[in-house]
Amino acid sequence: MVVVAACAGMAVAQQTVWGQCAGINYSGSTACTLGTICVYINNWYSQCQPRTTATTPASANSSYPTASANSSCYSTVITSSTITANGPATSPSPSSGKVTYAGVNIAGFDFGCGTDGTCVVSGADDIVTNSNAVGQMEHFAKDDGLNAFRLPVGWQFLVNGVVGAPLNATNFGKYDKLVQGCLGSGAEMCIVDIHNYARWNGKIVGQGGPSNADLASVWSQLAIKYASENKIVFGIMNEPHNIPDIWTWADTIQASVTAIRQAGATSQMILLPGNNYSGAASFVSSGSAAALAAITNLDLSTTNLIFDVHKYLDDGSGTSITCKTNNIDSTFRPLASWLRQNKRMVFNSETGGGNTDSCYKYLCEQIQFLNQNADVFLGYTSWAAGGFSSGYALNEVPTLSGGTWTDQLLVSKCVVGAWK
Ligand SMILES: *[C@@H]1O[C@H](CO)[C@@H](O)[C@H](O)[C@H]1NC(C)=O
Ligand SMILES: *[C@@H]1O[C@H](CO)[C@@H](O)[C@H](O)[C@H]1NC(C)=O
Ligand SMILES: *[C@@H]1O[C@H](CO)[C@@H](O)[C@H](O)[C@H]1NC(C)=O
Repeated sequence: MVVVAACAGMAVAQQTVWGQCAGINYSGSTACTLGTICVYINNWYSQCQPRTTATTPASANSSYPTASANSSCYSTVITSSTITANGPATSPSPSSGKVTYAGVNIAGFDFGCGTDGTCVVSGADDIVTNSNAVGQMEHFAKDDGLNAFRLPVGWQFLVNGVVGAPLNATNFGKYDKLVQGCLGSGAEMCIVDIHNYARWNGKIVGQGGPSNADLASVWSQLAIKYASENKIVFGIMNEPHNIPDIWTWADTIQASVTAIRQAGATSQMILLPGNNYSGAASFVSSGSAAALAAITNLDLSTTNLIFDVHKYLDDGSGTSITCKTNNIDSTFRPLASWLRQNKRMVFNSETGGGNTDSCYKYLCEQIQFLNQNADVFLGYTSWAAGGFSSGYALNEVPTLSGGTWTDQLLVSKCVVGAWK
């Protein structure tokens, strides 16, 4: 185990970009280097950020505490099992031929969310109560050996429709039962996914909509809840799209990463989503990769900051039961090259198709390619089980009869079968 301590900007030195510049018990420099501004994140942390976003300078926040004489160095504990920017610190074993994490999305608490980020609070489906979501995860983990679940939830549900508000105890309590069910299922990875398309009620976070601090606030609160759970992964945002300025979006993500780390979740993985619905095919060409690669932890490392990409196998929209491509030559092979050159990893948090022959063929081929390149592909969660009805095109809900669970064929053949 290695403990890395970082004491940002001591004494007279000007603080560098992304460095801390104020906060309770912070004693380092409060002067940000040229071209950056000290941005209030929370009472414990402000940060020097590039002057690109319309953010509140720390000094303008009236409730802002003054820097005290006490030194406050943060530290990041790196254990031998920590995934580094390069892959697992315990050197990856490409010969094992399979990605580290595989599983499914358990959807329902995101129901009522539109792609414009209007998540109707009453639309959220309490799938723990209504669809035995915990039983589904226990089945996937124990019977199938899957080890990763992504747990989408609407931002509005968490704060009961009031942006920037404290978590609503009733609503969060319901969602937390799903999270605890995941943690208790035997899974190794439980992804908390805010399913808002970079938006709140039609407006983009940090670009005309809520402030970066509003999103950072909900992440800070969630990180406090789950700081001691090393299997929790923070999926900052589902499918950003039509983002005018990707670098400004990266500032938004940075504010949430900072808030999560500062809240005490110092070592868990965080998923960073790019533009174009997190599309894997355009991740590099859209500029998302370059912008998100600049995001750092408090100690300026990129440890456990994992890119988040989606990829379906139909026309790209993920709505058809017919699959047309395995995405290997068009998407995953070139992406693997970029990742290797840049020493980073991605997680494919949405993929999938119908329970059809074309999808059995192509999804299995895609997963096999991810397995063969497990040094850069951390894993996948397919879409979706949880609260869907049997008529849903991409239905992966297992059925329970006479005490025995039966998987949808795409799950048994590919999601499970191509990984094991
Ligand atoms: C600030 O430092 C004081 C003195 O060490 C300590 O009592 C207090 O808990 C610290 N506050 C925070 C928020 O860490
Ligand atoms: C939390 O949300 C519920 C609706 O789910 C609402 O009835 C309750 O008043 C909210 N609590 C607070 C403190 O806002
Ligand atoms: C978004 O992704 C789709 C599907 O891969 C692609 O056709 C389109 O060109 C991408 N758009 C941008 C702006 O990158």
